Amino acid sequence: MAAPTVQVPAEVDAAQPSSVPLEGARANENFCPTDTVEGRFWNTAVSPLVGAPDASFAPMSHFDQSANQWDTPDKIAWTERYAQAIRSRVAPGRRIRLLDVGCGTGLLSFHFAPVADAILGIDTSPGMLEVFDAKAKATPQARSLLLDLEAHDLPAGATFDLVVSSMAFHHLVDPAAVLKKLGAALADGGRIAILDLDQEDGTFHPDPARMGVKHFGFSEAAARDWAARAGLELLTREIVHVIEKGEGRRYPIFMAVFGR
Ligand SMILES: C[S@@+](CC[C@H](N)C(=O)[O-])C[C@H]1O[C@@H](n2cnc3c(N)ncnc32)[C@H](O)[C@@H]1O
Repeated sequence: MAAPTVQVPAEVDAAQPSSVPLEGARANENFCPTDTVEGRFWNTAVSPLVGAPDASFAPMSHFDQSANQWDTPDKIAWTERYAQAIRSRVAPGRRIRLLDVGCGTGLLSFHFAPVADAILGIDTSPGMLEVFDAKAKATPQARSLLLDLEAHDLPAGATFDLVVSSMAFHHLVDPAAVLKKLGAALADGGRIAILDLDQEDGTFHPDPARMGVKHFGFSEAAARDWAARAGLELLTREIVHVIEKGEGRRYPIFMAVFGR
């Protein structure tokens, strides 16, 4: 089979989103072999914990507590918009292998079920993944993995055509280091689409420390720095949504698309 290629326009006009087809993306090759993670990766109904729990899991208890109430109408609408934004820039021309980093309950992941032969959601919160796993019962190609991507690596040999992440990067201590791990797992011509808060003043989260917030959003310069440190190219970075909260406060959400 020919190597996957992706046609990326030299200049992408944010006002006129252009699709970047993932032509030739291969399905079911080298994706998450069953012999990784001590043979438990695809073969268990319960998400396995990769590596021993450590202090980095502690702040995430906020997500365990809110998992069953996570899917509010607002969040459902926002993530639908994020999925549309991703499709507007990275339109899979064929079926893909998708990784969702900090997938939570899978609000973003499952939008790609119609075009994905395999969906892997990774997260540090068992509570969030319980909800993900319940949804995955109706999506046989979806699996979850309890994994702290800062402390541990992706399963050896796992390869993805599209990596997505929504509102998780501001919980990472070192986003560039995680991006580098994601880049290493990218199939030829694959893309990474990160959606998160634009730089803000720290008022988005009511209790940032308790909620495990490590960054008050990110500037465009930060995305360029991640790309340089991860050995990737920042292809586009644009504001795709604005969350309105509190007394007229507005929090823009950016989408940054990376490739090799
Ligand atoms: C704000 S929630 C977003 C969840 C989901 N992506 C969404 O848009 O609804 C952030 C998620 O990132 C996860 N997370 C935080 N740090 C992580 C890490 N180091 N590795 C993997 N997941 C992480 C949290 O457990 C949480 O589920």
